[in-house]
Amino acid sequence: MTQESSPAPDNQTLTITDNRTGKTYEVPITHDTIRAMDLRAIKVKDTDFGLMTYDPAFMNTASTRSRITYISGSQGILRYRGYPIEQLAEHSSFLETASLLLDGELPKRGALDSFTHQITNHTMVHENIREFIDAFRYDAHPMGILTSTVAALSTFYPDAKDLDDPAVRRLQILRIIAKMPTLAAYAYRHRRGLPYVYPDNDLSYSGNFLNMLFKMTEVKYQPNPIIEKALDVLFILHADHEQNCSTTAMRGVGSSGVDPYSALAASCAALYGPLHGGANEAVVRMLTEIGSVKNIASYVERAKAGEVRLMGFGHRVYKNYDPRAKVIKKLAYMVFDEVGKNPLVDIAVALEKIALEDEYFVSRKLYPNVDFYSGLIYQSMGLPMDLFPVLFAIGRTPGWLAQWEEMLTDPEQKIARPRQIYLGEDKRDFVPMVDR
Ligand code: CMC
Repeated sequence: MTQESSPAPDNQTLTITDNRTGKTYEVPITHDTIRAMDLRAIKVKDTDFGLMTYDPAFMNTASTRSRITYISGSQGILRYRGYPIEQLAEHSSFLETASLLLDGELPKRGALDSFTHQITNHTMVHENIREFIDAFRYDAHPMGILTSTVAALSTFYPDAKDLDDPAVRRLQILRIIAKMPTLAAYAYRHRRGLPYVYPDNDLSYSGNFLNMLFKMTEVKYQPNPIIEKALDVLFILHADHEQNCSTTAMRGVGSSGVDPYSALAASCAALYGPLHGGANEAVVRMLTEIGSVKNIASYVERAKAGEVRLMGFGHRVYKNYDPRAKVIKKLAYMVFDEVGKNPLVDIAVALEKIALEDEYFVSRKLYPNVDFYSGLIYQSMGLPMDLFPVLFAIGRTPGWLAQWEEMLTDPEQKIARPRQIYLGEDKRDFVPMVDR
């Protein structure tokens, strides 16, 4: 649940009458929330387990108190540590935003320089990782490679298990943010059968990533400053999004006390799905399938009939608009001015216009989300579709890690363990094979 940060008065309560027993209970309300555990006292018999809430897909359950990211779905607001995403996209850099997410404040010059220096000095990976990636099939999906390789990193850093030591946690955070672009670029080069490119520590975070992706025979790779900037902004826009599916995976898996590489592999796996980080790839496939503006109307009809979904449309939280989508649309034209217009953008713009006027989409509050235009930008940068979720993962990494550390240092958190409502068979005796 997302809410304004102003604290609620302490004396608010909810009175519940259990019509099974006629008993009344008073439970405190804090930040417009009641504690599910307070419902446990509501019982018919003393031996009962007590009342639970049933909330498949966590539609209305806050699993944590967080100070990292604020979203208002109804107003289309996204802020990291209080700073509006539009301002960060315009004025910040990805590493500054990462530092903000992790430490809670915009870093002073010296702190940012030191953070940047440390990230830059952790970009290399062990040569065994190169061999590990070599062992994947020639056509392995880069997201599968990334997920497995991040998990494999845990075997290189057994010190990472000491979760109680803040310095150890910090070191892993720096390593992971630094190495994600290296792993991503290796996954891409493996796919293309190209030799891996080692990091160039003279370049910016995004510039070095472009270097590791695209450097060929030139002695020194010079990133295109417009593409470098656009990629950096895309990373900022993806850097955190409170308790989404992959962040919930990070917190849930991390709550078992496992090392952050293993927990982050779970986040990558969650992000891989077409309803989450795979959506940008699905958007480009959808626009390619539509093929022409004249086919949009029939595609929209299929979406309304429930045969297909308009990929890049709709969001669990945003019911007004996704503020990231606005920034990305502008960014798309900045990139197109540099490298030429992506022909699919005309279909995207026309589809967006038709859908935004259609009663089906309007009444369900379905608006373009962050992924509607991001895939088109990546494609124009010359990146293949199956790398798109990998790019999302690089951007989201500081958010996953900030949320992981917040979870570990929150005295209220324990190993994640939801309840269930058992509706299966009652006790029955085993039936031997001959009698079945
Ligand atoms: N196209 C057509 N209809 C849709 C769409 C869509 N993209 N999204 C939702 N609907 C309809 C859905 O059929 C349902 O209609 P009805 O009430 O008649 O049954 C209604 O809208 C509510 O949908 P829902 O599935 O209950 O909504 P949700 O909150 O569970 O799903 C979503 C959110 C993002 C999974 C969904 O909107 C979707 O599948 N969108 C397409 C995939 C996509 O773009 N994902 C990227 C999300 S943003 C990046 C990220 O966070 O990873």
